[in-house]
Amino acid sequence: MSGNQTFTMIKPETVGKNNIGAVLKMINEAGFRIKAMKFTHLTKKQAGDFYAVHADKYFYEELTSFMSSGPIVAAILEKENAVADFRTLIGATNPANAAEGTIRKIFAESLSHNAIHGSDSEENAAIESDFFFSKVERF
Ligand code: RTP
Ligand code: MG
Repeated sequence: MSGNQTFTMIKPETVGKNNIGAVLKMINEAGFRIKAMKFTHLTKKQAGDFYAVHADKYFYEELTSFMSSGPIVAAILEKENAVADFRTLIGATNPANAAEGTIRKIFAESLSHNAIHGSDSEENAAIESDFFFSKVERF
């Protein structure tokens, strides 16, 4: 994967509040192009595998239960400097600390229900994209 891609998930509470379209509009208006997209519902096992890097954290059980509690939208996004620029667009992990105008500031409810996921490095963007998408699902 080239360095101009990142991976995102619109989390269950954002989907549940019917905010998929509003979030995608912000993503597009920030200059990201959708390279792959999927509407799906993770099992607890899949959520656990996806967030395996956090397996030893105290919040792992809550995180994986929440991420498998309802459908999510997974996508690969393309833009110059995609990983860093997308983290800027979504804002801080805890929405209480997120900057004005960020997706988490606008849509997130709490630290655990924080609206959206964004990859934290190019390496993880590639791993996370491969978790959801095959080559023929990318355009
Ligand atoms: P994400 O992976 O979902 O994009 O979030 P992130 O990089 O900003 O934060 P990360 O450290 O990777 O944590 C993953 C998710 O776990 C929940 N979390 N809870 N209770 C806590 O202290 C705590 N810390 C993190 C958050 O929902 C975070 O998005
Ligand atoms: Mg993370």
